[in-house]
Amino acid sequence: MADIPNIKVTIDNITIEVPAGTTILEAARKIGGDVTPPAMCYYSKLKGSGGKCRTCLVEVSKGSEKDPRPMPKLVASCRTGVMDGMEVKNITSDKVKDGRAGVVEFLLLNHPLDCPVCDQAGECHLQDLGYEHGKEGTRNDFPRRTFEKHDLGPNIQLHMNRCILCYRCVFTADQLTEKRCHGVLDRGEHAEIATFIEKNLDNEFIGNVIDVCPVGALTDKTFRFKNRVWFLKPMDAHRDCPTCSGKARVWTRGNEVFRVTARKDQWGEVEDWICNECRFEKKDINDWVIEGPSDIDRHSVISQGHYQGDVGTVKPQETLPEVMGRDPKLLMNIHDVSEVNKPNRDLSLIDGPAHSTNFQD
Ligand code: SF4
Ligand code: FES
Repeated sequence: MADIPNIKVTIDNITIEVPAGTTILEAARKIGGDVTPPAMCYYSKLKGSGGKCRTCLVEVSKGSEKDPRPMPKLVASCRTGVMDGMEVKNITSDKVKDGRAGVVEFLLLNHPLDCPVCDQAGECHLQDLGYEHGKEGTRNDFPRRTFEKHDLGPNIQLHMNRCILCYRCVFTADQLTEKRCHGVLDRGEHAEIATFIEKNLDNEFIGNVIDVCPVGALTDKTFRFKNRVWFLKPMDAHRDCPTCSGKARVWTRGNEVFRVTARKDQWGEVEDWICNECRFEKKDINDWVIEGPSDIDRHSVISQGHYQGDVGTVKPQETLPEVMGRDPKLLMNIHDVSEVNKPNRDLSLIDGPAHSTNFQD
């Protein structure tokens, strides 16, 4: 077979070469950082995934070298292939930011804002998306959809209120297990993830649906409400497992294992599918050979207090100022932008607690 030719694509002013047939999203992941669009339904390890949630929308400002006309509408980057000479805008496009805010608003039409009691809080992709692009209000006057909670087998609970119908769990069940027994029933407003007549999901790899769910719709019943993820210490560990690779991540507090998940890569995707026995039954630290602390994205709330390496000596490079030509707002020094705080006030010289009156001069 002839070698696949490399073609050039420019995303947010950064040009790279990728093999023909690569999608815009995969090309952006090769650049990495803030240039990469978020993805709530695409999952590189699941065939046919993507094209459902529209969070990965980008603007194609130049179609290709041969046909430089821009694409008339924002396109889903997970489903659009790159062309030679294509120019794409992600965070450099106001249209994209506006479109993404609209998508978040749509996703939150039915998704409850129950992060304070949701097990997925702290590692929820919709929570992150909401913080970055969400608006503080909703324009929806109708009540959100509500469903009964369902037990899918002894270890998994489906909380359909939170489901965003990304289909990832359906593809996982379909592609990882021999017998597909759950899917999306009904359409439109009534669509829901369901097993056929409450059939148990009892395949030995079915626990992986919990890891692929971008929100807290599918949760691990052996971990539900036991702890918050940011209080736990994620450790890479392995065991000699006859069913799967046995490479997992154990979430510990002291010597106690609270939960076991698959290891995830920088895009939040599972590296190696793990079996139910490793996930649900091996909750003793002695079941595992601990390799060391897991790499956790430094932006994640889970990384707070779990520093690795030479703390404070290596500052990862930010790509945002480079691309935007200015510092991102969130990193602004409060003293530069606010009149309220007076850095010349030495709080230690004030007798007792400081009040607003201490700053009135
Ligand atoms: S349950 Fe989770 S993984 Fe399945 S479709 Fe809903 S949001 Fe996606
Ligand atoms: S990630 Fe592209 S449409 Fe969902």
